[in-house]
Amino acid sequence: MKIFLDTGNLKEIEAMVPLGIVDGVTTNPSLMAKESGDPRAIIKSICDLVQGPVSAEVVATDWEGMVSEGRELASIDPHVVVKVPFTRDGVRATKVLAGEGTRVNVTLIFSAPQALIAAKVGAAYVSPFVGRLDDISVDGMGLVQQIVEIFEAFSFATEVLVASVRGPMHIVEAARMGADVCTCPVSVVEACFKHPLTDIGLAKFLKDWEKAQASRT
Ligand code: G3P
Repeated sequence: MKIFLDTGNLKEIEAMVPLGIVDGVTTNPSLMAKESGDPRAIIKSICDLVQGPVSAEVVATDWEGMVSEGRELASIDPHVVVKVPFTRDGVRATKVLAGEGTRVNVTLIFSAPQALIAAKVGAAYVSPFVGRLDDISVDGMGLVQQIVEIFEAFSFATEVLVASVRGPMHIVEAARMGADVCTCPVSVVEACFKHPLTDIGLAKFLKDWEKAQASRT
């Protein structure tokens, strides 16, 4: 399963890329609004750093506006994936952009029929928002399971990109279900590195090693 970072923050991305676990990045207007500087330049810098798919979202709400904004975003770098919200206009724009060979990530997916429709018009990715469903007592990962089953049954090339991730267990469940991608805030990736038994184990190894060295001198 691929791991994407869900952030528009260059420092966060710079810190994670050298670990070799970042396959791509997703942004959205809320994330980009937190960053200072030209959004186009930020997207370009992210592409240069990551050398993998980087989702950049349109803010137009009519299909023609989405298509022209999508073309503009796609021209920034070959790694750009145009992110489009799941609306009637978004679906129409996806059809046009995908037909031109542009990869589209259809976002704000909250139901299986939405994912199916996005796949039918050629979306490269669908982004079910699991955390926001969990927040309203709906099983977010249950939705991912449904989408994975549907896409497998009909051999859709569309990748399931698990979004709105809140913790490491979302990563574990996404991987077990065979989701293609999990996009995570940096805090969630950091949490995967923490295990008290690893820390205790390492401290003991080093202590035993030092003891042995000292007894030899
Ligand atoms: O990028 C879309 C998604 O991951 C947003 O997550 O935490 O705002 O629900 P969140």
